[in-house]
Amino acid sequence: MKSKISIKELLKLEPIGEEVIVNGWVRTFRSNRFIALNDGSTINNIQIVVDFEKMDESILKSINTGAAIEIKGSVVESLGKGQKIEIDAKEIIVHGTCDPEAYPLQPKKHSMEFLREKAHLRFRTNTFSSVFRIRHAASFAIHKFFNDSGFYMLHTPILTGSDAEGAGEMFRVTTLDLKNIPLNEEGDVDVTKDFFAKETNLTVSGQLEAELGALALGKVYTFGPTFRAENSNTSRHLAEFWMIEPEIAFADLKDDMKLAEEMMKYILQHVITHCKDDLQFLHDKEIKEESQLPKDKRREMPLMERLSFVLQNDFTHITYTEAIDVLRNSKPYKKKKFQYPVEWGIDLQSEHERFLVEKHFKNPVIITDYPAEIKAFYMRQNDDGKTVAAMDVLFPGIGEIIGGSQREERLDVLLKKCKDFNIEEEHVWWYLETRKFGTCKHAGFGLGFERLIMFLTGMTNVRDVIPFPRTPQNAEF
Ligand code: 4AD
Ligand code: MG
Repeated sequence: MKSKISIKELLKLEPIGEEVIVNGWVRTFRSNRFIALNDGSTINNIQIVVDFEKMDESILKSINTGAAIEIKGSVVESLGKGQKIEIDAKEIIVHGTCDPEAYPLQPKKHSMEFLREKAHLRFRTNTFSSVFRIRHAASFAIHKFFNDSGFYMLHTPILTGSDAEGAGEMFRVTTLDLKNIPLNEEGDVDVTKDFFAKETNLTVSGQLEAELGALALGKVYTFGPTFRAENSNTSRHLAEFWMIEPEIAFADLKDDMKLAEEMMKYILQHVITHCKDDLQFLHDKEIKEESQLPKDKRREMPLMERLSFVLQNDFTHITYTEAIDVLRNSKPYKKKKFQYPVEWGIDLQSEHERFLVEKHFKNPVIITDYPAEIKAFYMRQNDDGKTVAAMDVLFPGIGEIIGGSQREERLDVLLKKCKDFNIEEEHVWWYLETRKFGTCKHAGFGLGFERLIMFLTGMTNVRDVIPFPRTPQNAEF
């Protein structure tokens, strides 16, 4: 009896002697005899052996790279090198032909920039199929980690009237006729005529709503899309990205830091265990590519070593004030190599973060207790009156991967913060009420999912770890 089987299962089971059906896309077809077939279930191909004398000429002609085909045949031991089994083809059905002249994915190395323009097809390359299998595994690991740790997943709204981060980088959502915008007596947009009768945007974070959930369910997390209209064309910023935001009640900053480190290590361990072939491929590719770079441009460790290094070492903890001291005593500072100033009160730039993580500590670093002015209104004020109980987790090669804090749970302090940050009480009345009715210390953080995938895969541009990146001037596909 014939049964349909994925190439991943087939290579695992090695059912020699059995009749099977496999589907996939042709990677190569050599000597009118050997097809390397891939179905996306694994990075590995299965070799199909074709008896060209018994095959229909027209079918043979249409087996080109990229074609979608179905093979019926028996599994046999392979005599060739590089594979244990192969399929002796009895029947080939061509589901979709592929014009080899027009197919953009030629059997040669393509640049990442070129493949970004072919994002509809790039899943079919080894690199991108590996990245997206790892992305899946990381997503699964996150849900499993939180589920097994007693968290409840909460779906927070995507359309919202509030700006959690207060950075004002939001995408406006409206159904008003842009050619005929209703105005009020003051000449401003009459938002009462809009769909929600108030100004709404795409969310920048699910945190404020997650806090409401945590203050009843105890431990919650969100895993959703977030949107930022920041016009920064960097290799680490997207206009649409996915964020994981846990929130825990009866917890302080120390608990928050512990949770962040445990979560990161759990994800790493899961991916190392379940994505061996894909990691090995990306690891080898990275070594090959970096061998062409000058020594000082190469990364200190190749991919798989980086992952186990982070897994095996405790994260470094320093305060913002200590970080400023380290930076001001550093060689690049004294030699005026930093482009941006370093003084207490300024926000750390990525050149500073990278120096701390990659050159000074050579380890993931958690920086805590930032000046209140450079952080969001909801962060808990420390007793010194100047700093807040914030934390940023910095990773080698990535910079900031997590941002979080203990939350301000004291109503009077929070009301003053709203005033200082020009946040109108009537916009966040629901948030403030949780501080009136059974408030308690609580904390949480946000992990940027794409930055995590960059770390896990060694990809150096955030556009190459999300299926269809949204960046300034670009929303194709
Ligand atoms: O530091 P951020 O802005 O923190 C928050 O949004 C908090 N509300 C999180 C919380 O406490 N619940 O963002 C969190 C993380 C960053 O550390 C970064 O990894 C990622 O989200 N991130 C981005 N990733 C890709 N593109 C962007 N434009 C990003 N902005 C932030
Ligand atoms: Mg941040």
